[in-house]
Amino acid sequence: MVLVAQELPLMCLVLLLLCREPGVDAQAGQDFALQQPQAKVTVTAGETLTLICTTSGAAGPGPVMWLKGLGSGNKTVYDPNNRDPSSRVTEAVRESDTNYTIHIRNVQPEDMGTYYCVKFVKIAFAADEFFRHGSGTEVTVQAKPSTPLVSGPEQRARPDESVPFTCTTGGFFPDKIDVKWFKNSNPMTAKTPQVTQSRMKTYNMSSTVQVTLQKDDARSQITCEVSHPTLQAPLQGRFQLSRVLRVPPSIEVRAEPSPAEVNKTVAFTCLLKEFYPAKVFISWLENGIEIKGQNLSGPLEVSRGLFELRSRVEVQATEEKNGSTITCRVVHDGQAPANDSAVLWISNPTLGGLSNEFQINKGANVLSSLLLLLSMGVLLEKGLLGGLLFFLFKRMNRKASEMLPYPAPPQSPAPAAGSQGLATVSSDL
Ligand SMILES: *[C@@H]1O[C@H](CO)[C@@H](O)[C@H](O)[C@H]1NC(C)=O
Ligand SMILES: *[C@@H]1O[C@H](CO)[C@@H](O)[C@H](O)[C@H]1NC(C)=O
Ligand SMILES: *[C@@H]1O[C@H](CO)[C@@H](O)[C@H](O)[C@H]1NC(C)=O
Repeated sequence: MVLVAQELPLMCLVLLLLCREPGVDAQAGQDFALQQPQAKVTVTAGETLTLICTTSGAAGPGPVMWLKGLGSGNKTVYDPNNRDPSSRVTEAVRESDTNYTIHIRNVQPEDMGTYYCVKFVKIAFAADEFFRHGSGTEVTVQAKPSTPLVSGPEQRARPDESVPFTCTTGGFFPDKIDVKWFKNSNPMTAKTPQVTQSRMKTYNMSSTVQVTLQKDDARSQITCEVSHPTLQAPLQGRFQLSRVLRVPPSIEVRAEPSPAEVNKTVAFTCLLKEFYPAKVFISWLENGIEIKGQNLSGPLEVSRGLFELRSRVEVQATEEKNGSTITCRVVHDGQAPANDSAVLWISNPTLGGLSNEFQINKGANVLSSLLLLLSMGVLLEKGLLGGLLFFLFKRMNRKASEMLPYPAPPQSPAPAAGSQGLATVSSDL
């Protein structure tokens, strides 16, 4: 009984607590109110959001907490009895009985929603009970779009090919966004950008433009420019067209001299013009069999970002090589080989007389020289005679020298095209 007597005051206290109706507190808190002066707040992602809540009137014991949303799906944002030091949420005024303002650091778009400050009352042996809430603050978090990224085709494309470029950006709010495209500084027309919402409540944007590549685009760039209400200046994403352009070289092989005298050296030059990128491999073939050539330099950047390259090979013009095909084979940027060829021509050894072709050419030379003199208006008998005599003399002289057992003095090589032209003149006459 001693034990009972000792515990009696405690039991009475417990009974008292049990008997205390919540109604008593409710009555006591008739004049209690929570004020949320901010109906709507707009903040930019990353900033600190301040949510204001003050109370007036008296209410029973129990915490004032912050909830995001009400009813099912509400989330406790701040509970003074359950402070988490690592939380982004802190109270603005410590231990106040009337000011329950909080700060939320580094606000993100997923924090968007309506925030309520809520008064709970203590219920003996039970969880705190909801009592009253403020009118709520609707929070909008504006978010800047990420730096736009421009992507192009996987493989290089040639001039005149139309290739798509896509500009993407994301994480922005609200969804109002504007995209402009430029090639160098010229505006381009693009399809309407596609805007989609992500799970984080923000939006993503994708815009595509079709670009027809040009030969001189090695130094061009395209720009995607994004404007959004959160941005003071538009954001830009760029793409260098040199990353996707492939301009195959034009290939031309020349033989010098042509025709060549027997046993002399003929130089074949392969000229690669206007190509991009610079990556190129040249090989030389003589009648399909590889021979050793030499590039005269590395690829040289000539104009508009395009490259040029010369390669050279020397071939001994032995008699049996007459009519041989010398080919310059070009593998540009890992593509299928392309080539051009020239034929090694050996002029006839003139021991024992001139060939027909040779005579035609010689005749043509004389005739064309005469024509030249006439057209120049050198009609003076003296001059004409002098010219004729000079050419006849020269011809005889050469003939005589060619008859000698010694090698003929070097003949100035006439370009193939030139001698063909002269042959045409002679046949016309
Ligand atoms: C918050 O959600 C819980 C669980 O869904 C619910 O029991 C509680 O009544 C809600 N509180 C308020 C104030 O809406
Ligand atoms: C060319 O060279 C070959 C071999 O060296 C020789 O036999 C031939 O006589 C030469 N021909 C002339 C026209 O010099
Ligand atoms: C080389 O070939 C051409 C064409 O077949 C011919 O006209 C010329 O006489 C040849 N030259 C020699 C040295 O055989």
